[in-house]
Amino acid sequence: MPESIADRQVMATSLRTDACGQLRREDVGRTVRLGGWVHRSRDLGGLVFIDLRDRTGLLQLAFGPGWSPSDALATAAAVGVESVILGEGEVVAREADRVNPDMLTGEIEVRVRSIRIVGPAATPALPVARARGEKAPSEELRLRHRYLDLRRPELQQNLVLRHRLMQATRRYLCDHGYLELETPILTKPTPEGARDYLVPSRVHPGEFYALPQSPQIYKQLFMICGFDRYFQIARCFRDEDLRADRQPEFTQIDIEASFIEREDIATLAEGLIGALWREAGHEIPAQFERMTYADAMEYYGCDRPDLRYGLRVADYSSVFRTLDFAVTTSALSAGARVRGIIVPGGGAWSRKQVDELEALAKSAGVGGLLRLRKTDGAYDGPLAKYLTDEARSAFALNDGDLALFVAAADRVANPALDRVRQECARRLDLVDENAQRFLWVMDFPMFEEDPATGALAAVHHPFTAPHPDDMREFPDAPARWRALAYDVVLNGTELGGGSIRTSDPAVQSRMFALLGIGDVAEQERRFGFLLEGLRAGAPPHGGIAFGFDRIAMLLSHATSLRDVIAFPKTTAARSLFEGAPVAVPEADLAELNIAVRLNDGRKG
Ligand code: AMO
Repeated sequence: MPESIADRQVMATSLRTDACGQLRREDVGRTVRLGGWVHRSRDLGGLVFIDLRDRTGLLQLAFGPGWSPSDALATAAAVGVESVILGEGEVVAREADRVNPDMLTGEIEVRVRSIRIVGPAATPALPVARARGEKAPSEELRLRHRYLDLRRPELQQNLVLRHRLMQATRRYLCDHGYLELETPILTKPTPEGARDYLVPSRVHPGEFYALPQSPQIYKQLFMICGFDRYFQIARCFRDEDLRADRQPEFTQIDIEASFIEREDIATLAEGLIGALWREAGHEIPAQFERMTYADAMEYYGCDRPDLRYGLRVADYSSVFRTLDFAVTTSALSAGARVRGIIVPGGGAWSRKQVDELEALAKSAGVGGLLRLRKTDGAYDGPLAKYLTDEARSAFALNDGDLALFVAAADRVANPALDRVRQECARRLDLVDENAQRFLWVMDFPMFEEDPATGALAAVHHPFTAPHPDDMREFPDAPARWRALAYDVVLNGTELGGGSIRTSDPAVQSRMFALLGIGDVAEQERRFGFLLEGLRAGAPPHGGIAFGFDRIAMLLSHATSLRDVIAFPKTTAARSLFEGAPVAVPEADLAELNIAVRLNDGRKG
């Protein structure tokens, strides 16, 4: 996304009159001084063309005997790509047949009179200027040589957009009365469900800070202190398994407000997201769709459904109960359900293709994927000969349909159905890439119960308020409580999540007890700073946090967070460019009172 042309004057410095990408036809006749990187050069024998690049774009420099002194011409012919040069010359209009409509500066060129190489470049380890169709270097090479990779216009545009989104966030939230306040990076563990990154304290031997998984407790303390509306573009650190949309170090738009209810946060969040999408050139609905967590799990098998396509999951248990089919009958009598997806057109898939879907389902934990196909009015699959007229009419298959069923407990079936649904949509090309289906998923459960031990874990985090109706109705069954928690989902990606918080210290203390921290002294040791705050008079409050990198990724049409983070980590949590993490000298460890003992018994 090009920056606004209004930035022109501010780009002038003592060394240049203009930035490269901002010159236009109306500049013809001006003498300009420029600086930039040699993107490409062509030597046509006596005539040399250089595409000069800076962050604003490309500009053609022309060197020729008619206007360039011979030393300038010789320098231009010899300069290597990616070298930094300064040049001075006159802006001229290109002849009609040499206009390049693909370049913003394509109507002009600069006839250079003097050139100076101020930053000669070693032969680049990877090409910055790629020819059309040229294969991209491996991501490993790109990350290793990030100083070159970040010169590529695509990545520069991504980071420019990131900057603009950050400014739009600040504008929107400031305009709505939110204060930008900072919270510590060296802090105490905050339970957001991942492992903490720990930092040893030198002055307190054997003690550690944790890097924040989010500023959760601090932002609640801001409310207790009366700041009323807070935001922060906050760096968070989570030691968790990485994926394309997860980084160990990432950025959140973190928000908290007082004297609010869920609808206040929903309105604010919809306005903020609308402002960010507008900044990137898109208009989106003023209000997002809504779905309960229970419905999301029931019909999509996941809590962040992609609504750009159908293929909804349905419960066929009552149909299967009438069939004499051993596999499903035994699953049903063991308390499972039989749920499935009807895939129009899936009947054309080969046995091997359906076997692949089954393998996908099995990798998600189920025992199998039962298939039923209807072609030319005939049914085919292990179930076919067990079908009754009632079952056939209940499935209501059309010719060419493939029905896929899973007989399992919901906890096991859901992830399998989710993966199968996504894969079917991908194969059938059902995903409308232009659709933007924003969705609130609401009424999450408060706790997740470990099926083996019965132990409870917080689904959002322990500071989320349980639904007061559920606490009243099922006082002794906390596993049934819903939470006042909500997520914003776009096309299957979780953009953000938040909740109304517990502002009553007694309820908070009970939550800790339900989560296995029953000992009051232990509660005080771990969360005393919050409990003390709550006892000091806490307003009703709540908030939300958005994954800023994810937003930047979606709006840049990037497929990985690494393409919108300047210096990201690999999926193995390494920075290849700086070379981190590293082993540190023994003496440094000794100063920190640390001895390394690797888990496999070796000494570090
Ligand atoms: P939560 O843990 O849901 O909530 O995080 C909020 C949003 O942050 C993004 N996100 C990530 N992005 C990149 N890499 C990661 N490893 C990563 N983990 C999370 C997601 C997610 O929706 N304190 C609460 C918020 C609150 O209750 O107000 C919290 O952090 O887009």
